[in-house]
Amino acid sequence: MPSHSPPWAVNAEGVPRSLSPPPKQEREGEMPKDIHNTPPLLAGAHADTETYNAMYEASISDPEGFWAEHGKRIDWIKPFTKVKDTSFAHDDVHVKWFEDGTLNVAENCIDRHLATRGDQTAIIFEPDDPNEPAQNITYQQLSDEVGKFANVLKDLGVKQGDRVVLYLPMIPAAAYAMLACARLGAVHSVVFAGFSPDALASRINDSGAKIVITSDGAPRGGRVTDLKGNVDKALLHCDDHVKCLVVKRTGQQVTWQENRDIWYDEMAASASTFCHAAEVGAEDPLFILYTSGSTGKPKGVVHTSGGYLVYAGMTHQYTFDYQENDVFWCTADVGWVTGHSYIVYGPLVNGATTVMFEGVPTYPDAGRFWAVCEKHKVNQFYTAPTAIRLLMGQSDDFVTKYDLSDLKVLGSVGEPINPEAWNWYNEVVGKGKCPIVDTFWQTETGGHLITALPGATKLKPGAATKPFFGVQPVILDPQSGEEITTVEAEGVLCMKDAWPGIMRTLWGDADRFVSAYFADYKGYYFTGDGCRRDADGDYWITGRVDDVINVSGHRMGTAEVESALVAHEKVAEAAVVGYPHELKGQGIYCYVTLMSDADPSDELVKELQAWVRKEIGPIAKPDVIQWAPGLPKTRSGKIMRRILRKIAENEVDGLGDTSTLADPSVVDDLIANRAVK
Ligand code: PRX
Repeated sequence: MPSHSPPWAVNAEGVPRSLSPPPKQEREGEMPKDIHNTPPLLAGAHADTETYNAMYEASISDPEGFWAEHGKRIDWIKPFTKVKDTSFAHDDVHVKWFEDGTLNVAENCIDRHLATRGDQTAIIFEPDDPNEPAQNITYQQLSDEVGKFANVLKDLGVKQGDRVVLYLPMIPAAAYAMLACARLGAVHSVVFAGFSPDALASRINDSGAKIVITSDGAPRGGRVTDLKGNVDKALLHCDDHVKCLVVKRTGQQVTWQENRDIWYDEMAASASTFCHAAEVGAEDPLFILYTSGSTGKPKGVVHTSGGYLVYAGMTHQYTFDYQENDVFWCTADVGWVTGHSYIVYGPLVNGATTVMFEGVPTYPDAGRFWAVCEKHKVNQFYTAPTAIRLLMGQSDDFVTKYDLSDLKVLGSVGEPINPEAWNWYNEVVGKGKCPIVDTFWQTETGGHLITALPGATKLKPGAATKPFFGVQPVILDPQSGEEITTVEAEGVLCMKDAWPGIMRTLWGDADRFVSAYFADYKGYYFTGDGCRRDADGDYWITGRVDDVINVSGHRMGTAEVESALVAHEKVAEAAVVGYPHELKGQGIYCYVTLMSDADPSDELVKELQAWVRKEIGPIAKPDVIQWAPGLPKTRSGKIMRRILRKIAENEVDGLGDTSTLADPSVVDDLIANRAVK
């Protein structure tokens, strides 16, 4: 297989390359537990349109047969005999894949590669400071580090099924800790290190974790966050028995509570590198990841072991056309699902080399991404439109001064990519020769749902294009809930049947799982997104249709920001909406009604911005605060967000019917004082 200068051209239709199905593996029958001799599946993902069509068709017409075959891409301790038992029926939602199989996820990501690729780099760690040496961690070293980490956790009493919260910088220890949990059959819940102590505490409490793993500090963009200090504050609100395991990153001073805080290094010094891998069921939970919903507190999305791993590995291989010895870089943080599936689990289960970057795109300057691509000869690069928009605003010299000739495929994720950003990514970064895969998916979906496959899909700037194998998108009329069956369609995006990577439930809240995803449109999984299907059958995501906004590719529930605002003593009421923001995609626009004894002022705006930042984290800092003497409400007291959105978008001529408002005059005031005119 050529690994350089691929003969693709962007927008080329169906360049004929053969997409052979993954090599069939000899894994029938029971396998002795200690044999890890199965080579990972890397070769053969090159796609052409006909093969994509044939494989897609097979995945829909015979899902059992299709996934029985592809389920074998991972090693099973006890092979599955049942493939699929799924239902989206509103009164009987259940999802089970490979349900009687058993496996260990860490063995799949590490042990089975050792015989053939023990000396190959598994993780390239690129520190925040470009002058600090990068680290190449081989699969053998990964095995040793994860073994030690698992033994430390075991010594601290972590058992199969226990929850462990991770609050870490983007350092190799984050991957070690995730895989160590997987090795023990414990359930990790990674909390993004940019979240506040309060947000961390609520996740520790909701998951019932008995241990939180953190580091002394977290360097990012030349600054250091006091992570341990944040954990100290969070643990004031948690059970006294919760322990804190601290990894050394910066060497800075930390406050210490004996009997609760433990230095990882001290325990690891005497820990063995071998740790027995637990045999877990395919449907046992692998991780919980909290994400914002349109109402209430964040939801603990639960992913299980077998189906998730099959799907993460398969999407990583096919979507990015990952080939043997390629270097893959996903710039996300492990605190988000993208980091779970495409920094850790997908690449490692495939025996790939994955880059883990601690820093930010603009430190020490706007060339950092491209410097890292050149330095590590990155072949597939996966980032978010918000980063692309940020970088395209700088001089192209930041890109062109680096040798990017190893790049083969570029990826985009997190929000719709606008054509200007797509074109810049294509021309300036990809030099017109790297297909751009615009991958639509969600925390809940485990892996890509709608995406181009390099070479197989005709690319269109801004279109997520075609469904991945096994995924059946449908567009429904938002009012009637009826499926629109014409090729060209616009409405809400739902999924008709389950794929192996979909979440199984919400942690501790099975009812909310059904009401949040399967109740609005009965019989379907509702993504929360609007979507258009064009005459070629390509899907274009048009953005959220619920009260979730997408800020720099991060999901934010407007209800979360509202409840943070009203927790401030001077705030009587708040309503939050998204508005178009040049860099972030959407910005956070807050209408705030103050207590009668509070005076509006610029200082108070700053105070409230800082307050929300402290309550949730820097990503939730309001962009605009508009004082609202009153909010537009119906006579029954419901806030009419449609009107607030229009005012924030400065589309005040199209406000529609305001006659049902209890007091229409509040709208005039809001229009007169709107932030964007
Ligand atoms: O609105 C869609 C948007 O991000 C939401 C999912 O957010 P989250 O669970 O945080 O996961 C982000 C990374 C997988 C979706 O409901 N979204 C994600 N990818 C795309 C997108 N919108 C348009 N195009 C995409 N490629």
